[in-house]
Amino acid sequence: MSDPIQIAPSILAADYARISEELAQVSSADLIHFDVMDGHFVPNISFGADFLRAVKASTDLPVDAHLMVSNPDEVVEKFLDAGADSLSFHYEATAHAHRLVSLIHDRGARASIAINPATPVCLLEPILDDLDMVLVMTVNPGFGGQRFIDSSLKKLRRLRRMCDEHGVNPRIEVDGGIDAGNIAAVAAAGANVFVAGSSVFGCEDRSRAIAELRGAAEGGVTKSA
Ligand code: DX5
Ligand code: ZN
Repeated sequence: MSDPIQIAPSILAADYARISEELAQVSSADLIHFDVMDGHFVPNISFGADFLRAVKASTDLPVDAHLMVSNPDEVVEKFLDAGADSLSFHYEATAHAHRLVSLIHDRGARASIAINPATPVCLLEPILDDLDMVLVMTVNPGFGGQRFIDSSLKKLRRLRRMCDEHGVNPRIEVDGGIDAGNIAAVAAAGANVFVAGSSVFGCEDRSRAIAELRGAAEGGVTKSA
């Protein structure tokens, strides 16, 4: 049986001034996705570790931190100290991916590597067995509300095949442009954790948006089985 679908609303698209109410409205989700942008690795600046601590104190859901920063080696511990439950750093941003994964595990968190749209999945092969999750960017990182890149589907299928060949089953997370119209195809291609910013916080009824995404993703998995 395949792993349950997880929906991870990205608070990048939330109203930051009302963050605890926003978090309360997405309590039917599985994870809270927390985007860290440094204005250097990506052309935008978002949140730091202190805000993660505040978010963590305002939700019962696990916090899934996504570090879009040039220096993950230097800052990863700050986000672990702040309470991140899972942590994705970018493959493109470090020469020491294995060391970082070990550090995240030593601190009791779940370790994940994120890859940009132009980064091939085969680069993860030597480290695949050590990962709890792989984050496949389905837009170029930096902004919410962008259009899903269609060639990501091929990449997801390739990653799923590579995992099968290795006999491992990390979570496969997708991030960017996920909505009720494409989530079934993305699930059928092998993803099982879905970040959703605009398609959750852009809707009046957030629990309904989450339920719709979940239902459509489950439908996609069933159809592909
Ligand atoms: C983009 C971020 C995403 C973003 C997704 O760089 O990593 O997590 O919030 O937003 P949507 O779902 O609106 O594309
Ligand atoms: Zn993200």
